[in-house]
This record gives sequence, structure tokens and C-alpha cells, in this order.
Amino acid sequence: HPLPVMASSESPALRFEVIARCSTTKARVSKLHLPHYTADTPMFMPVGTQGTIKGLTTDQLRDLDCHVILGNTYHLGNRPGPEILDQFGGLHQFMNWDRGLLTDSGGFQMVSLLKLAEITEEGVQFEHPHDGSLMMLTPEKSMELQNSIGADIMMQLDDVVSSLTTGPRVEEAMHRSIRWLDRCIKAHRKPHQQNLFPIIQGGLDLTLRKACLEAMIARNAPGYAIGGLSGGEEKDQFWRIVSLCTDYLPEPKPRYCMGVGYAEDLVVCSALGVDMYDCVYPTRTARFGHALTRSGGITLKYGRYHTDYSPIEDDCNCHTCRNYTRAHLATLVNKETVGCHLISIHNIAYQMRLMRDIRSSIMEDRFPQFVQSFMKRYFVDNG
Ligand code: GUN
Ligand code: ZN
Repeated sequence: HPLPVMASSESPALRFEVIARCSTTKARVSKLHLPHYTADTPMFMPVGTQGTIKGLTTDQLRDLDCHVILGNTYHLGNRPGPEILDQFGGLHQFMNWDRGLLTDSGGFQMVSLLKLAEITEEGVQFEHPHDGSLMMLTPEKSMELQNSIGADIMMQLDDVVSSLTTGPRVEEAMHRSIRWLDRCIKAHRKPHQQNLFPIIQGGLDLTLRKACLEAMIARNAPGYAIGGLSGGEEKDQFWRIVSLCTDYLPEPKPRYCMGVGYAEDLVVCSALGVDMYDCVYPTRTARFGHALTRSGGITLKYGRYHTDYSPIEDDCNCHTCRNYTRAHLATLVNKETVGCHLISIHNIAYQMRLMRDIRSSIMEDRFPQFVQSFMKRYFVDNG
């Protein structure tokens, strides 16, 4: 017989169904029904920049059981550009991906990647990296690009400050993010096909976060993101903000914690009731020869792995662990990009498996025991 639906919400382009809840934490398991796919949450979404994940093809991402992946508006807006995307009927068709897609608004990437970005009430102005010309990304422009890309979930353009920033700039960015949200809502051309998520800002200040939560919840969005975190702040401050947000956000709607991807954060934030995550970390770190394991990370280029004939993880059944030893990978990472691709495959498989383990432990109401054994293996046994 069908599982009891514990809470659910319905929007024109999204249905969210909580199907199990942990009895002692805020963790939950849900079905997120998107226009292109139904995703199981809590989930990790790998990040792509040029329409493909660095080093991974869409076939590999499908094989790795990824349900939703990220595209980047700023990169895609440049190339292939809105005209070609419109011709193709969007990024799904263009990259032959039939599952969920999510795009970030582009501003965050410009502010964090390009030092020359300047933020005004109108939008984010930056120097074009190719020819040095000035470009302005406004909430309206971001929505136009994201409507052409056609992702299942689009993010508002927000004014992001580093989580280490203090003073009046934090409050200004929070209020501006609310005003830009309203401009995004107004400019959104496809509310029946694409979901627009607001992004809660307000730095590490609980009062500012509450004010932002109140204003954004009043907009009755299909789901919400928590932004401005994972920028070098203390873990306990980060988790306190996440916990405040999940206490206030509507329970039957999906919650997305942006830029979070360390295993320990995925476990803790899931305990706090977060449903979605993204991060470049697993693929970026693979490029430095770093592989994720349940006993912590290992850097394969180090000499000691050149005579280690075990796979990255004994019980991992990813393509890399089934076919390559640590010794072979250690040789490859120093000479061939294929070594980094193979580690990327494992690292994404590792994240997917962690999320699957989180979900099944919640389903079977043994999540606290899972957290305990995860932490012991990750931090204690290995030390
Ligand atoms: N990625 C990680 N954090 C953020 C954020 O606060 N805003 C946006 N737009 N993207 C992010
Ligand atoms: Zn593996």
C-alpha cells in the first residue's frame, strides 16, 4: 500500500512530497516531482559549467544515478547563448539530458570569480573576461537567460556578500536581494514550466536572516534556498543559521543549501532538514588527485599509493573502483587528465552513495545511528 504522505506542497511546476521523517531530528525523505524528473531527496547535485560536468558526460551522470545537475547561467548565457538555446528548445535538448536541471542566477559566480564585478541597485556589472567590455547582469537579464536555458529550477539574482563580511553591507545585501527577488518574479516568463527559488541572505546575523525569511516566505515560492554560507565561517555558526532557516521555512516545501558539499556538512544539514545541495568540491578536488572515502580523503598523487593495489574504496561499485587500482590512478593523475576524470567519477559516486545512505537510514528510522557511525569512521577511526 502507498506510503502515507506526511506533508506536501503543490506549485504549477513542482510537487513536493515528504514520505518519511526522522523521529529525533529534522531530517526527512521526499519525492521532488519536477517537470523533467522525480528526484529523491536529500540529494546532492553535481555542478557543471559548460553544459557538461568537468570531465563527466551526461551518460556517466545518468549511470551515477544523478537526478538533478546544475548548469551555470553566466557561462551558458555566453556560450551557446540564448539564441541557440531557444532554437534547441533549451539546455535539456542541447545537452541531451532528460532529468532535472537547476541553474544559478549568475551573479554569485561573477562576484566570486571576477574581482572586477561591481554591484549597484540595477544589477551586477562586470568586465567581460574575453574582450574586457562592460556587461550588466540584472534580475531581468538573469531571468531571460534562465528562461532560455529552461532548467526545472531557476535561482533569483541575489546580492551575495562573503559570510565573513560584517556591518551595514550585510543588511543592504539582504534587502536588495528581496527587491531583486520581486523583479525576478515579475520578469519570469514561464512560471508553469520552471520554478523560481528565492535565496535567503542575511549573513551570520540571526535578526537579518529572520527578516529575510519573513519577506521571502510571504512571496509563496515553490521552494527556498539558503545562501551566503560555506564561505569560511565557523561550522557552528553555519549550522546555527541553517537550523534557524529550516525552523522558519514552510515544512512542505523543498529547501536547498547552496554551495555545500563536504560530507560532514551534508550529514549535519540533512539532520537540520535540508533537502538539496550543490558544490564544485568533489569534481574540483579530483583535479588535484584527491579522492573521497568514508574514512576521509586520500591524495592519490602521493608516493605511498604507487604500490597500493586496492581500489579507492573496496566496497564502492563505481566504474573507477571496479576497474582501477590506487596505484594505477596514482600514475595516471600525474600524467593524464583521464586520471582526474576517473577520480571525479568516484567522487560523484561517493556523494550519491552518501545521500542514498542518508535517505535509507531516515526511511528505516535509524538516522541517528547512521550519523554516529558515519562520524566515527570519518573522524575517529581514521585519526
Ligand atoms: N552559491 C553558493 N552560495 C550562493 C549564494 O549565496 N547565492 C547564489 N546565487 N549562489 C550561491
Ligand atoms: Zn568508487
